[in-house]
Amino acid sequence: MTNDPISNLTVPSLTSFDEAALDKAFAALAAQARDSAAAIDGPEAVEAFRLEWLGRKQGRLTDVSGKWLKAAPAEAKKSLGQRFNALKTVVEGLLEQASGSGPSDAALAAEAIDITLPGTRRLTGSEHPITKTLNEIVSVFAALGYSVGVGPEVETDYYNFESMNFPPGHPARDTQDTLVVANQERRPLRDRLLLRTHTSPVQMRTMELQPPPVRIVIPGKVHRNDAADATHSPIFHQVEGLCVDTNITFSDLKGTLDHAMKALFGSSVKTRFFPSFFPFTEPSADVQISCIFCGGKGCRKCKQSGWIELLGCGMVDPAVFAFAAEKQPTYDPKKISGFAFGMGVERIAMMKYGVSEIGQFYAGDMRFLGQFA
Ligand code: DAH
Repeated sequence: MTNDPISNLTVPSLTSFDEAALDKAFAALAAQARDSAAAIDGPEAVEAFRLEWLGRKQGRLTDVSGKWLKAAPAEAKKSLGQRFNALKTVVEGLLEQASGSGPSDAALAAEAIDITLPGTRRLTGSEHPITKTLNEIVSVFAALGYSVGVGPEVETDYYNFESMNFPPGHPARDTQDTLVVANQERRPLRDRLLLRTHTSPVQMRTMELQPPPVRIVIPGKVHRNDAADATHSPIFHQVEGLCVDTNITFSDLKGTLDHAMKALFGSSVKTRFFPSFFPFTEPSADVQISCIFCGGKGCRKCKQSGWIELLGCGMVDPAVFAFAAEKQPTYDPKKISGFAFGMGVERIAMMKYGVSEIGQFYAGDMRFLGQFA
C-alpha cells in the first residue's frame, strides 16, 4: 500500500458534538486528505489514497460514519451529516484530480453507446385527411386545366358579401353566421373586416387580377359562428371553383361537376341538379350525388332518399361580373359567361372515409389520424 504516515492514523473519537467541535474535527480530516493527496506520486498511490479514504470497509469515511455519526446525539446528526457529505465531495474531488483529468475507464464504459441496441424509431408524418381530400379535389380540377388560387382568411365586407351580390342589409347575409372583427364602426361598411364565411370572395379577387378566360379552384379555410355538432364546426374548409370564358353554359357546369363527382367517388356515382339560391349565381343549383353507401336504394345515411346533397353551384350572376368589370372591363356579361361552384371539404372527407364526427378531424388523436397514413 503506501508508506504515508497519515494512513496509519485512525479516526479519533469525538467527545463533543457542538458546531465548533464538528468544524474543527472535519477541518482536520480535510487537511489530512489534502496532504495525503498532495503526496500522491503515481497510479499505485492513487489507488492507495482511494482505499484509504473511500474504501468501503476500512476507508476513513466509513470510519467517520461508523464512529461519529452513530455516536452523535440526535440533534447533531443533521449538521454532522452535512459536514460528512462536504468532506466526501472534497475527497472525491482530490481523487479525481490525482487520477488525471479524464474520467476513468469504468466511467467511460458506463457511458459508451451500445450500437447493437435498436434505434429510436421516428414516426413518419403523413397528410391529414382534410389536406388529403382537399388535394384530391384540387387535382381532379387541375387535370381539367384549372389553376389553383388562394385568398385571405380575414376578408373585407366588400369581397365576402357586397361584390358577391349580397347588398348591405340583404337577408341572404343572415344565412352565413359571420364572425366580424370588433371595433370597426368608424370604417365604411365595405372596408370592415370579418373572417370569411366562404371561399367565394376569392372569385372576385381572381377576376380583378386576371381578364377572362379563367379556370381556377380555390381551396381554403372558412369561419362561421356555428355551434359545433357531429357535422358542423365553426372552422372548416371549402374548395371554390370558377370558370369564365366565351359561351360557357349550364351544360358545361353539369358535365364538369358530374365528371368531378365520378372522379372523387367512383364512376358509378350519378349526379342530379336541384334548383337553389345563391346571390352570386343565377340560376343556382344544389348538386346531389347518388348515395355512395347504398348505391341509391335508400339507407339511413341518405335518409332513405337514395341521394346525398354535396355542393352548391350556378351560372355567375351578371351583377358579379359588373363588380369585376370595375377593375377589369373585359368582364362584360354580353360577351362572356361562366359558372361557379363551392364544396365543403370536411363533408366530402366524412363521406369518403366513413367518418361520422367532424370533430375527429381536429382532435389530434394519433389513433384516428394514423388510419389515413
Ligand atoms: N359560397 C357558398 C357557401 O358557402 C357555396 C357556393 C355555392 C359557392 C354556389 C359557389 C356557388 O361558387 O356557385 O355556402
